[in-house]
Amino acid sequence: MPSVLSLIGAVTVTTISMRLILFLQPYLKPSKLDRYLTEKDSWALVTGATDGLGLAFVQELAHRGFNVVIHGRDPDKLNGIKTQLEKQYPGRRFQILVLDASTTTPQQITSLSLPPISVLINNVGGGPPGRLWLRFHDRTVQEVADMVTMNATFTAMLTHRVLGDLQKTQPPRLVINVGSVVSSLHAAWMEPYCGTKAFIESFSEALHVEMVAEGHDNNVEIMCLKAASISTKSSQLPPSFTAPTPRVMAKAGLDRVGSGRVTTGPLLRHEVMFAVMGMLPKATLSKVINSMNSFKIGRG
Ligand SMILES: NC(=O)c1ccc[n+]([C@@H]2O[C@H](COP(=O)([O-])OP(=O)(O)OC[C@H]3O[C@@H](n4cnc5c(N)ncnc54)[C@H](OP(=O)(O)O)[C@@H]3O)[C@@H](O)[C@H]2O)c1
Repeated sequence: MPSVLSLIGAVTVTTISMRLILFLQPYLKPSKLDRYLTEKDSWALVTGATDGLGLAFVQELAHRGFNVVIHGRDPDKLNGIKTQLEKQYPGRRFQILVLDASTTTPQQITSLSLPPISVLINNVGGGPPGRLWLRFHDRTVQEVADMVTMNATFTAMLTHRVLGDLQKTQPPRLVINVGSVVSSLHAAWMEPYCGTKAFIESFSEALHVEMVAEGHDNNVEIMCLKAASISTKSSQLPPSFTAPTPRVMAKAGLDRVGSGRVTTGPLLRHEVMFAVMGMLPKATLSKVINSMNSFKIGRG
């Protein structure tokens, strides 16, 4: 009898230890971002780059040696940020790309003129100002369509344009799609956002599987950063341990490059939080999320 109990104990301890190692693994490996810095003139492209997480990605990429194409919808804001970045990072080059992500057509994407892109960060996402959280039937049909275009279609079209006709001899390329934990939490009052973030995750995973099947996985890395709260203008959260600044999140996201995971949470602290929350029954979890979000309806 004692030997059966010791066997059960040993199996339990081994299983828990292995799960813990797998859980921690992406946070222990050093970033392999340098792999995409192949030439003196390596370019990254970041969408939604005039504020929040997008701007932080631009700063972190410039800091780590990349020239960056900064995308946004407002040419004046983009030019102002470009001037600031040129002063802040004198050795780097910056280009602007003006496109409204909620209305961009396939023709506009096809006719884009871009430098060769080593790193694409599909960051743009959210909802119309003040309407990220809203009762579904208080949204207009046009707004629902625009949110789907900005959060899902735009990412798929731009990824298609940047990856182009894949050749095994091309320099390595990285695509980071910014997802969100809400794709698994199924939050009320943000259905188009939750649904499109689930698209982002599934699209990224499927694209990775195709890269493996076609033998491109050695030089094309696909990631989905499943982010949780960040202190930005759309989240309306003040900076805190649970809602870090965009720069902390961008740095963590780039540190996960080469971790071997497609979908990954950038920050360990958020993963621990969600692992604990995931133990709650679904109905209880929904009540908790609703109580955190109900005051945001019509704001953010
Ligand atoms: N904040 C969070 O708590 C959180 C959590 C999980 C995931 N995320 C994800 O992180 C990403 C960035 O979020 P964020 O909080 O940093 O957002 P943000 O602070 O609201 O910034 C959004 C950026 O996207 C641009 N943008 C918005 N609509 C656009 C459009 N139609 N066309 C072109 N550009 C547009 C904005 O430009 P303007 O300057 O012109 O407004 C801005 O540069 C999103 O994918 C979001 O879903 C955020």
